[in-house]
Amino acid sequence: MNPDRLTFIRKLPKAELHVHIEGTLEPDLIFRLAQRNGVMLPYADVDALRAAYQFTNLQSFLDLYYAGAAVLMTEQDFYDMTMAYLRRIAQDGVVHTEIMFDPQTHTERGVPIADVFAGIARAVREGREKWGITSCLIMSFLRHLSEQAAFDTLEQALPLRDQYADVWLGIGLDSGEQGNPPEKFERVYARCRELGFYLVAHAGEEGPADYVSAALDKLNVIRIDHGVRSEEDPALVARLADRRIPLTVCPLSNLKLKVVNDMSEHNLKRLLDQGLCVTINSDDPAYFGGYLLDNYVAVAKALNLDDADLVKLARNSMDARFPVFVSQA
Ligand code: ADE
Ligand code: ZN
Repeated sequence: MNPDRLTFIRKLPKAELHVHIEGTLEPDLIFRLAQRNGVMLPYADVDALRAAYQFTNLQSFLDLYYAGAAVLMTEQDFYDMTMAYLRRIAQDGVVHTEIMFDPQTHTERGVPIADVFAGIARAVREGREKWGITSCLIMSFLRHLSEQAAFDTLEQALPLRDQYADVWLGIGLDSGEQGNPPEKFERVYARCRELGFYLVAHAGEEGPADYVSAALDKLNVIRIDHGVRSEEDPALVARLADRRIPLTVCPLSNLKLKVVNDMSEHNLKRLLDQGLCVTINSDDPAYFGGYLLDNYVAVAKALNLDDADLVKLARNSMDARFPVFVSQA
């Protein structure tokens, strides 16, 4: 891409609305934390680990992602990981980020949930001061686990709510989608809604368009993470357009996880042209070969986006921030 175009995209004020903080763990940091914490890794070095990042579908990625996250043990580890991400996106013109984290991945290994919150929140607060990036947190439930496990996690986290009222604003749902429909989490989402959290959920990444409808109808989410398979249901597409329900699309993720075979086949531009509030995001940038700016560049090239498309995508991302941020603007 020519340098002027890259500068143009970098300078657009952009929000990232779909990133898993555990998915920002770069191989060199995985190795550093493994050494610091005495964790054995089944890879000789950073290059060997990176070479293993060849995925056939979502589950093949998740297996590596959970193994990588197992080096995170202390508050300092969560802080270091989050600071590295914020430092990186500050260079890309990202002005706001809504960060997902998966406490169950850590509490299952005996890490106190308080340490997970403390490390990530310390970095987010420091990132505001240091780089002027506003951020908040989306605590996400792992959908391959039970609804009861989600309720237990919510119960463990709620005593921390007042302490992190400035950062913890959202609830999300991630991990293996197929066979774990939104309905499975209907009651815990109803509780989170009563508690006043903003609700989002992954749907229509590998799962069918029906899961997107169910996330809207049963979970009452205000945004859909991914949602690219919505296109299979024209009535759903019309509903998403009419209600301006944002989709947090992750192009490089979709390519690496073989949701699309080639970036030129991605439906992002078609969805945008049908009036949907499409946004671009990185999902798990350390695993999928690019941060937010790289995702913009990849789709701009593959789908021949013009400047107006790029401006619209960046504006959509700012409009789709959690309402408290939009109303402050
Ligand atoms: N957890 C981290 N990345 C994910 C993705 N792309 N889909 C579902 N769960 C995830
Ligand atoms: Zn995701």
